[in-house]
Amino acid sequence: MAFPSSKHYNYLPVSVLEETESSPRPRSDLEAPPKYSHVEEVDELDYAATRPAKRPESWKKAAALILIVGAVLYLAVSGFRNTFERIGSMRCSGHKLPNSFTLPSGDRIPSVALGVWLAEKGKVGEAVKLSKMDTDTSTALGHTGHNEAEVGEALRESGIPRKEVWITSKLWNAFHAPGDIEPVLDESLSKLGTDYVDLYLIHWPVAFKKDTDNEVDWNLTDNPYPTWQKLEELVEKGKIRNIGISNFNIRRIQNLTSNPLKVRPAVNQVELSYWNPQPELVKWSKENGLLLEAYSPLGSAERVKETLEVPEVKKIAKILGITPAQVYISWHVQRGTVVLPKSVTPSRIEENFRITRLPQPLFDELEKAATSHKPERSVDPSERWGVDIWN
Ligand SMILES: NC(=O)c1ccc[n+]([C@@H]2O[C@H](COP(=O)([O-])OP(=O)(O)OC[C@H]3O[C@@H](n4cnc5c(N)ncnc54)[C@H](OP(=O)(O)O)[C@@H]3O)[C@@H](O)[C@H]2O)c1
Repeated sequence: MAFPSSKHYNYLPVSVLEETESSPRPRSDLEAPPKYSHVEEVDELDYAATRPAKRPESWKKAAALILIVGAVLYLAVSGFRNTFERIGSMRCSGHKLPNSFTLPSGDRIPSVALGVWLAEKGKVGEAVKLSKMDTDTSTALGHTGHNEAEVGEALRESGIPRKEVWITSKLWNAFHAPGDIEPVLDESLSKLGTDYVDLYLIHWPVAFKKDTDNEVDWNLTDNPYPTWQKLEELVEKGKIRNIGISNFNIRRIQNLTSNPLKVRPAVNQVELSYWNPQPELVKWSKENGLLLEAYSPLGSAERVKETLEVPEVKKIAKILGITPAQVYISWHVQRGTVVLPKSVTPSRIEENFRITRLPQPLFDELEKAATSHKPERSVDPSERWGVDIWN
């Protein structure tokens, strides 16, 4: 038994039809449709065939009914859809946050990186491996330094291909003299077990005299260009892919960039958090094409508990069904900055890599709350070093 296609038989009432012997099946769809004789529910066919005069009227009624049902359905569906869209837009605006930003070199830096500074010895390796498991972009490691050897070991053990990992390291204050830079970089590379870093930053706009802990070299502090020129050379040599700065304010950035740079700074890594959101620097950097990286994005270990208790953030987290830490990390990326949350806790590492775009009103609310109080820094060695770093 075959069922006719509705294309050919849309005038027939639904019933069971059978192909007749006298009408062989056409060889193709282009030929005339087969003729069918009705073998069941004959009355229905009869009805259609014997009362053609009534057909137009019944069709009018049917059409009217279809229109009414259609209109009711449309109103119901669009009502539901509006409600769902309203809820949906509170949950997620539909646009994803970027999982990377493009640097002047064309390299793409992951928007969320695992901060490993102050990561407890013995824990950083696992953290590094975990961060890879949970991110679909390159793993990014921010601020390797005292734990470079452990990071290197973890990377070797994990078997993650080098090109899938983004490694940022920094030049410490005591090695700003051009002659000291390459040896100290080589040492880092050897500990990390790699022949290049993706990003190398001048850690502070403060140079120390060689072999001193905090004796300021005022020449190289006031004029960081010789240090920068050496870094440019190391980019040419292929030991560094991108160079940047850290803890530079606008005046200090301009002091450096007023020189005839061959390579412009790729990023400026600075403290950015609810407590110290630096809206002017964020705005200026955007206008001047300098990517910022947010360090201590959860307010640092000392304040993280308090940071996660901020009422506005708790409210936003509740509305969106995410955690307060995820609200902050998402907010940073949505502000257009790379974010470096440090954690050695597996569940938190996983949590911190899951970001979502905050609906604009909620983003604005958090921005307003963060910028409405007096800014407070977590990291400020100005006094210890005798340098007014932020001026
Ligand atoms: N350029 C610079 O001068 C500079 C200065 C400071 C920092 N940094 C960089 O920024 C990175 C991060 O900064 P930071 O360590 O000062 O501060 P942070 O990332 O704001 O806070 C780290 C603290 O938050 C906790 N934490 C992380 N995720 C959490 C979550 N989802 N829920 C609850 N608690 C969570 C961590 O605990 P657990 O680890 O126990 O999970 C740790 O105690 C550093 O690792 C470093 O790479 C750079």
